[in-house]
Amino acid sequence: MVATYVSWVIGGVLLTAVVYRFYGRFQKRARGIEELDVPLFGRRSRVFCRYRGYVLPSDIVNTVVNDIPWFEVRPDDTWVVSFPKAGTTWLQEIVYLICNDFDYEKAQATTIEDRFPFLEFPYPGVKVVAQSPPPRFIKTHLPFSLLPKQLDEKKPKVIYIARNPKDTAVSLQAFTKMINYVTFLGNMEDFAQLFVEGTVFYGPWEKHVKEAWDRRDEENILFVTYEDLHKDFRGTVQDIARFLEKSMSESQLRALEVHCSFSLMQSNDSVNYSWQQGVLFGEGQFMRKGKVGDWKNHLSSEMSDKFDAMVTSLEPSGLHFVDS
Ligand code: PPS
Repeated sequence: MVATYVSWVIGGVLLTAVVYRFYGRFQKRARGIEELDVPLFGRRSRVFCRYRGYVLPSDIVNTVVNDIPWFEVRPDDTWVVSFPKAGTTWLQEIVYLICNDFDYEKAQATTIEDRFPFLEFPYPGVKVVAQSPPPRFIKTHLPFSLLPKQLDEKKPKVIYIARNPKDTAVSLQAFTKMINYVTFLGNMEDFAQLFVEGTVFYGPWEKHVKEAWDRRDEENILFVTYEDLHKDFRGTVQDIARFLEKSMSESQLRALEVHCSFSLMQSNDSVNYSWQQGVLFGEGQFMRKGKVGDWKNHLSSEMSDKFDAMVTSLEPSGLHFVDS
């Protein structure tokens, strides 16, 4: 009698779990979310969801992505938008200092995560960002089509930074290996193949970049590249300052160039994400190499050709990348 009762209870629980799981999937599909299963990510093979043409971290799709279009934008916000590993942190630090009278002490006192928060990341969270006092500095990796609708109406300054996809992929693979909650079982070539197929965080890369490039002439949008910052830091920073409607003296520019050099940013605890070591990150360094062309140490020539084809597909639009 007891055994029958227990088996009924277990059966009931199992059935509920199965129904719940299918219902969850059905609900997600109804919201346009497709869970992806990528075995190379091991235990967390469902780390991604496809949503409105992009492959996004499941945690973001399952939480905030639906709310972000309704996020209230302010005209005095400053946004930095990018595909991951494009040089976002570098640009954030430049923008923050230009907009804060080059107050290095103030920048040093707070981590970039707090003074220039990552909109869709759980910390500090969309609600905290929404309530932050002006002027707000906001980082996001979401593509333009998933950003708040009010961006077009309130027209805050938005700077998009892009980086050649080969170095982006190498940097993203190193970063993926560093994140504690993600296991990547493959090698660089496996990761690069996923990258060209668009199955990496925020992929496809070319769609993300093209959306921004197509809007580059809008008055409140500036498009810059990681390679521009490398080749001509001063000229690119002057363009950024002009766009932000800020003036800058020669000595301020010189000091900013030193402060934002790779070696100083690598040892700067307010931007190098050392506070995430042992929390979000395991082995590895966020500020890894900071070079243009490091991909040559990691990608085969066959793989490089696949990336070239991806870049070539963008060239009719006038977008070109330097990768060495
Ligand atoms: S994230 O996690 O997406 O926000 O990362 P992101 O900041 O976009 O990109 C990290 C890469 O940018 C490099 N970086 C720099 N390169 C040159 N100079 C400076 N100052 C600089 N700051 C950051 C960083 O090293 C990462 O690239 P890799 O190739 O991995 O070194």
